[in-house]
Amino acid sequence: MNSTLFIEKAYIDGKFVHSEKTFPVINPATLLPLGHVPDLTVKDCQTAINAAENAWKQWQKTTIGERTTLVRKIFELINEYKTELAEIMTKECGKPLTESLVEVDYANSYMEWYAEEGKRTYGETIPALKEGTRLLTIKQGVGVVAAITPWNFPLAMITRKIAPALVAGCTVILKPASQTPFSAIALARLTEIAGLPKGVLNIITSTDSNGIGNELASNPAIRKISFTGSTKVGSILMQQAAGTIKRVSMELGGNAPFIVFDDADIDEAVKGAIAGKFRNAGQTCVAVNRFYVQRSIYQEFAQKLSAEVSKLRVGNGMENNIQVGPLINVKGLDKVKQHVADAVEKGAKIAFGGNPIKDLFFEPTILTDVSHDALIAKEETFGPVCALFPFETEEEAIRLANDTPFGLAAYFYSTNIYRCQRVSEQIESGMVGINTGMVSNASAPFGGVKQSGLGREGSSHGLSEYLEVKYLCFGT
Ligand code: SIN
Repeated sequence: MNSTLFIEKAYIDGKFVHSEKTFPVINPATLLPLGHVPDLTVKDCQTAINAAENAWKQWQKTTIGERTTLVRKIFELINEYKTELAEIMTKECGKPLTESLVEVDYANSYMEWYAEEGKRTYGETIPALKEGTRLLTIKQGVGVVAAITPWNFPLAMITRKIAPALVAGCTVILKPASQTPFSAIALARLTEIAGLPKGVLNIITSTDSNGIGNELASNPAIRKISFTGSTKVGSILMQQAAGTIKRVSMELGGNAPFIVFDDADIDEAVKGAIAGKFRNAGQTCVAVNRFYVQRSIYQEFAQKLSAEVSKLRVGNGMENNIQVGPLINVKGLDKVKQHVADAVEKGAKIAFGGNPIKDLFFEPTILTDVSHDALIAKEETFGPVCALFPFETEEEAIRLANDTPFGLAAYFYSTNIYRCQRVSEQIESGMVGINTGMVSNASAPFGGVKQSGLGREGSSHGLSEYLEVKYLCFGT
């Protein structure tokens, strides 16, 4: 690839490093190798942890002014290299180029927001009950941080972790998904140009996810681990982290409901459904998985949604006017096929699509009259499939929406303000979109309840995850 940011190396202690063993990164749209990166080992990971620990000694002493200025500089460089970053992203994860450009802006909004918010890591003065004492709190970075990020947002899931970590005074070892390491490495190059000291950010590329994950979760030098990915892996990492009482942030799987009440603006709900479902071909943790539509408007909603879905063009995201790219790999495609086949077997009708196209592409699909027993009602599909279920009453809609061990995002449409208040308070999820299909925002807390995770990313809450509160008691 013809870009100065396209680097086929990992990044440890301020150096781009090779290794004898490498692995290919496949472009999911063409199935051709995009490039190769080092297949690093647990030993290499320990080298990176040592580098981050050494770098932390100095980095924690820098002022908030120095750190936020550097993060701001990285923000400016990301803007400057936006097109190159977006092209790398589309080629490694398949999302349409227009969407990658939006993701670069979204990713960068975390750099900008934390470069500002870092300056407000205030402590407190606490009125003392006894004479002769003064009580204060200060906030300090937790120390060396491990970040493990997924392939579906190759840049934004990184900046959402490293921007607050860096301004808090933490150093980072980042393990990006093996499917999408090039966006991470490109970012490392920009941090190098910005002048981030060596060892403050380290990138481990590896196919040994279990070994590296275990090392990052259990190594005592690491004080915190932040993971975005599946609930299954999150639970394993939490168990591994328990041995050293590490702080954990877990942004895990979802099974988002999208309720359309009979008092909704149906055209707006259709727009929200497209945004909430088809971003990255349905491969997002906040993607709508279950559409609950009130019986009296069910047919109308299904028809209008089918009309919009039929306009979506599927293809290689580097071509013009493509809205839906490929699934990330065969495993992802097989899951989509399985969910559609299982739903149909259990009585669902195909209102639109329903078939694989070729290679990793799958038709945008609408299933109606889906059984509540179908797999698609219970598990994240992570693909471009809308499953529609009718409901009768508000109580039923809330019960169905909450009938899952997950609780990341939920959405509903209604024009009744009282209903909006009632329903938003009763839905069991960390984020609720009310008359919108998009909730992600750097200044808002992103995260889940139940088995969708622990902790929040973005906003001042996301910064607190990287800070310890230290209490200072002054005697006279
Ligand atoms: C995710 O799918 O994990 C993140 C989506 C987002 O930040 O909008």
